Amino acid sequence: MKTYIKDLKNYTGKEVTIAGWIDVRRDQGKMTFFDFRDTTGKIQGVVLPNSPALEMAKETRPEWVVEVKGKVNARPEKMIKKDTFNGDIELEVLDIKVLNKSETPVFEINQDTSVINEETRLKYRYLDLRTDRMQKNIKARYEIIKFIRNYLDKEGFTEIETPLLTKSTPEGARDYLVPSRIYQGKFFALPQAPQQYKQLLMTSGFEKYFQIARCMRDEDLRGDRQPEFTQLDLEMSFVEEEDIIALNEKLLIEIVEKLYPEKKIQQVPFPRIAYAEAMEKYGTDRPDMRENKEDKDLLAFCWVIDFPFFEKVAKSDNPQAKGEWTFTHNPFSAPKEKDLEKLMNKQDIKSIIAGQYDIALNGSEIGGGSIRAHKSEILKATLEIIGYDEEAQKKDLAHMFSAFDMGTPPHGGIAWGLDRLIMILQGEESIREVIAFPKTREARDPMMDSPAEVDKKQLDELGIQLKK
Ligand code: AMO
Repeated sequence: MKTYIKDLKNYTGKEVTIAGWIDVRRDQGKMTFFDFRDTTGKIQGVVLPNSPALEMAKETRPEWVVEVKGKVNARPEKMIKKDTFNGDIELEVLDIKVLNKSETPVFEINQDTSVINEETRLKYRYLDLRTDRMQKNIKARYEIIKFIRNYLDKEGFTEIETPLLTKSTPEGARDYLVPSRIYQGKFFALPQAPQQYKQLLMTSGFEKYFQIARCMRDEDLRGDRQPEFTQLDLEMSFVEEEDIIALNEKLLIEIVEKLYPEKKIQQVPFPRIAYAEAMEKYGTDRPDMRENKEDKDLLAFCWVIDFPFFEKVAKSDNPQAKGEWTFTHNPFSAPKEKDLEKLMNKQDIKSIIAGQYDIALNGSEIGGGSIRAHKSEILKATLEIIGYDEEAQKKDLAHMFSAFDMGTPPHGGIAWGLDRLIMILQGEESIREVIAFPKTREARDPMMDSPAEVDKKQLDELGIQLKK
C-alpha cells in the first residue's frame, strides 16, 4: 500500500512505500539525494553508499514517476529544517521502481512558473499544474467552493443545475452559439449566466437556490475575464435588497475568517457607496477602498448600490442593443419602488434607479445582483425602453412573461465572479492562475489547440457551409 507523503511522520522508524514524482535529484558521489513529491507534499530521500538502489538512483531524472521503498528516519537535531514541510524526517531509500520516465520538462516544475511565457504554460498546462503554486491555487479553489456549498446548505439552499444548451437572450454580451443538427438552421446558445432559469425556479417554488455555475460569454478578454468562467449564482424569494446583502456579506466574512485567517477585512460591515458617489469620488463603480495598497493581506470589500437602470447605448459595447437606451446591468431588475411610476410612464429614464447592487473587492468587481421584476408589466416596460417591440419580446421572452403571469413571487439574487474572488484571495494577478484549464487572452486553448476546424462531414450534418 502506498503511504502519502504527508503521513510519513507517523511512520518514523518504519518501512514504507511511497509513489510520486522526482522533484529534485542531487548526486553527491557515493550518495544520491532526492526530493520526492506526491499530491500531499514533499520528502527528502537519501540513497546511502551501500544501498541496493544506488545504481537505479543515478539513472533517474526529475519528473520520472517512481515507487520508492524506504525507511522513515528522524533527522539528527542539527539537520532539522524547521520551516520546511517534513523537515524533521527523511526517507532512507531501499528500492526505486520506475513507473514511468519523463522527457526533460519544458520548464522547471519545482519553481514558480509565473515568470514563464504563458503560451508555453498553457500548452503544457498538465505540467504547470504540477507546480507547488498551482496545486495550492486549485486546491484553495476547491476549499472555497466546498465551504460555500456547506454554508448555503445549512442556510436551507438547494443547489440546482440549469441547462448549458439554452437560448440566445438579451443579457449584455455576445453569445456562444451551438448549431442544432436535428433542427437545421436553428441554434442553441450557451448561457451567459443562469439568470432566467434561476428566476423560473423561483416561480417553481424553490425559494432558496444556488449553483456553482459555468457561464460563457464571447467578449474581449482581459486579465480578469475569461470566455468561460464560474459564478456562485444564487436567488431567493420574498426578500429585499438588505436580505441578499446581509447573507452574502456574512458568507464572505466567514470564508475569509475560516480559510484566510491571516487576512484582514478593512471594514465590517462592508461600506456601501451609491453609484453616483463612487463615480464622483473614485471615477469608477468598483472603487479600491484599501487604505494601504502595499499590504497584501488587506481586503477592502464595498457594496456599490443605487445604480441607474438605463444608460444611452454605445453599440460597440452591447451588440444586442436595439434602441437608444440599454440596461446598465440586467434587464430583469426591478426599479426602486420610488421610481416605478417613472418606469411605467417611461419618464425621465435617466434618473430611474434600479434595485441593483454590486460588490467590489480591492478594486475588482466580484459580484452583482438585483431585486427583480416579478410582474409582466414591469419587464415589458423595461424591454420597451431598451427597444424591444412586442414581437421581439414574444420571440425571446414569452416564457418569462408566461411565468410572471402564473404566480411568480417577489425575488432577487446575486452572482459572484468566483474566479475573481479566488484570484484576489490567493494573491494572484490573473484569473487564469486559479482556473485549471483557462483560455489564453486571445480566447484559445494551446493545449487542445482549440477552437479548431471540424470535418466537412460534421458541417454537412449540421447543414452548415462556411463562407469562403
Ligand atoms: P454579471 O454579468 O455582473 O451578473 O456577472 C456576475 C459576476 O461575474 C463575474 N464575471 C466574469 N468573470 C470572469 N470572466 C468574465 N468574462 C466575467 N463576466 C462577469 C464578475 C461579475 O460581477 N446574472 C447576473 C447576476 C444576477 O443579477 O444575479 C450576472 O451574471 O465578477
